[in-house]
Amino acid sequence: MHELVTIELSVNGVARSLLIEPRETLAEVLRDRLGLTGTKVSCDAQVCGACTVLVDGLAMSACTYLAVDADGRAVRTVEGLATDGVLAPVQQAFVDKAAFQCGFCTSGMLMAATALLEDNPTPTREEVVRGLEGNICRCTGYVPIVEAVLAASRAGDAAGAARIEQGSENSGGAR
Ligand code: FES
Ligand code: FES
Repeated sequence: MHELVTIELSVNGVARSLLIEPRETLAEVLRDRLGLTGTKVSCDAQVCGACTVLVDGLAMSACTYLAVDADGRAVRTVEGLATDGVLAPVQQAFVDKAAFQCGFCTSGMLMAATALLEDNPTPTREEVVRGLEGNICRCTGYVPIVEAVLAASRAGDAAGAARIEQGSENSGGAR
């Protein structure tokens, strides 16, 4: 039995305090201690991207990221994307574009796409391809995945434009 350490972190907006072994990876802690099995482990060697989660907004491979290094940080997993049962635009776009088959890579793809779109809400096709280059899919041929991320980008753009329009209408009414 190894010495245990306490880590405090936020997981999908919920504060967690966990007693773990220092050797445990973030993927192990998420899956085995918190039951968040949406994060998949495939290569277990930081090659395939299946285990991608966001740590303080940055895409990380949870299979090689030590959980102790997440102490004090905000972690987001695929379970945190939907709001009140409503899929996030990027999730809905994956459904609409049939951007998955077996689904094993999908959580990691969604998290990498989320990091990309939060950093660059209107990426070009080339930027999407580059943003997902650390994520391997054995089923889809990638085209529908890229299409889905571009569609999510357009959906986010439309929602933003609607909010701006609504804001100007509201401020117009207040004058
Ligand atoms: S399982 Fe982590 S990169 Fe493949
Ligand atoms: S959908 Fe099967 S690995 Fe990507």
